[in-house]
Amino acid sequence: MPRLVVVSNRVGVPDGGARAGGLEVAIRPALKRRGGIWFGWSGKISDEDPGPPRTTVQDNVSYVTVDMRRDDHEEFYNGFANRVLWPILHYRLDLAEFSRRDLGGYFRVNDYFARNLAQLLQPDDVVWVHDYHLIPLAKALRDRGHKNKIGFFIHIPCPPPEILTALPNHERLIPALGAYDVIGLQTETDASNICRYFESEAQVRRLGDGVYDFDGRKVKVGVYPVGVETEPFARLARRAIETAFVREVLDSLSGRAMIIGVDRLDYSKGIPERLNAFERFLTNFPDWRGKVTYLQITPRSRTEIAEYADIGRVVGETVGRINGTFGEASWTPLRYINKAHSRTALAGLYRAARAALVTPLRDGMNLVAKEYVAAQNPDDPGVLILSRFAGAAHECTAALLVNPYDPEGVGAAINRALSMPLAERRERYRHNFRVLAQNDLTRWAERFLATLEPAPQDSAVHYMPRVAG
Ligand code: F6P
Repeated sequence: MPRLVVVSNRVGVPDGGARAGGLEVAIRPALKRRGGIWFGWSGKISDEDPGPPRTTVQDNVSYVTVDMRRDDHEEFYNGFANRVLWPILHYRLDLAEFSRRDLGGYFRVNDYFARNLAQLLQPDDVVWVHDYHLIPLAKALRDRGHKNKIGFFIHIPCPPPEILTALPNHERLIPALGAYDVIGLQTETDASNICRYFESEAQVRRLGDGVYDFDGRKVKVGVYPVGVETEPFARLARRAIETAFVREVLDSLSGRAMIIGVDRLDYSKGIPERLNAFERFLTNFPDWRGKVTYLQITPRSRTEIAEYADIGRVVGETVGRINGTFGEASWTPLRYINKAHSRTALAGLYRAARAALVTPLRDGMNLVAKEYVAAQNPDDPGVLILSRFAGAAHECTAALLVNPYDPEGVGAAINRALSMPLAERRERYRHNFRVLAQNDLTRWAERFLATLEPAPQDSAVHYMPRVAG
């Protein structure tokens, strides 16, 4: 079997720390199983020219990381990746702040990654690149003469061409995807959006459903919804609910029902909108006052970017207002914490929660939703309240699907979740769990790699996106 080289901006170098991103949750187990190399940024910013890559080996994975120069980090990570691509790919044109300098930094860091990778790559290696930070990486590798199979998976949404074309220099950036052999997306909507861009904007020749000819290179577009380790996570949750930490949390609730939300502090997660919905719930269903506690765990993220500081301020103020208005000396409706928690702690809290609020305004997949389902007690499961705009809504169709922009509707869904009869909860849980057990993390990685590894013309097409005319 050829060696697998995974590339992503952030690398889950094993250090035992709590993590706050879906990408690492997904890649680490997939790579551990097969073995190989995980290459990317070390997380360190350097004031001088960074030295050579550093390697940490654990089990059968080599974690190879490079530091990033301060100006590169500013222009690539804080700049183009997170001030332009992130908002635009999440349909937030209003938040995008484009600068030519940042675009230059973005291509420069992709080149820097390619330069370092070039020293590691063997001709037979299969390369799997992840996420929006690295769109032009395959092109940078091809320009250096690498002929390896290279696949790309984008963990976040892909908007329709009507939005993508608002990205300055999209005609230079998006067609660079044509240097990959396989392009994987989370949902059919995302896949059909990129296909529509290829056909209507880039005039790429379509060879068949989801197959394109980029100047003689055959490129496949497919849908690979990222999963979780469904069964192992269920086992972890069974153990975790017995830990001293979870017991302490449960004791502190004094028998009240708990609702849980776990998100990075990011405007795409719809946290202020969700808090407003919780406020509507307390207003419209006053019988629940004093009987329910909403725990919102929200590790800070991308703190150097103004929009992230802004959202932090708004969330803090909203929590204060709700607790100030509805709280009693003996009851705090909302517990809001910024500390990241270990996977074990989260698994236990998910199992203990009567409902989860996963209501992003837009999300590629959202693995919190899937882990919440996996963690439930089948005999007495909690209810997932899920935004219809999260990729997970395509699979967790038995969740209470909500419009995160509608506080009345989400408030009513909270009431419905907390009042739901046991038989209905079980039925919904069974349906969602079955889907997630079938398409778990192992299957996600296997399906993607099965498309990438054989010659594209020989491999099975797993999904054929239909492009609206
Ligand atoms: O999936 C989106 C993503 O950007 C991942 O690449 C990353 O793991 C996560 O969100 C956290 O973001 P950041 O790496 O910017 O902290």
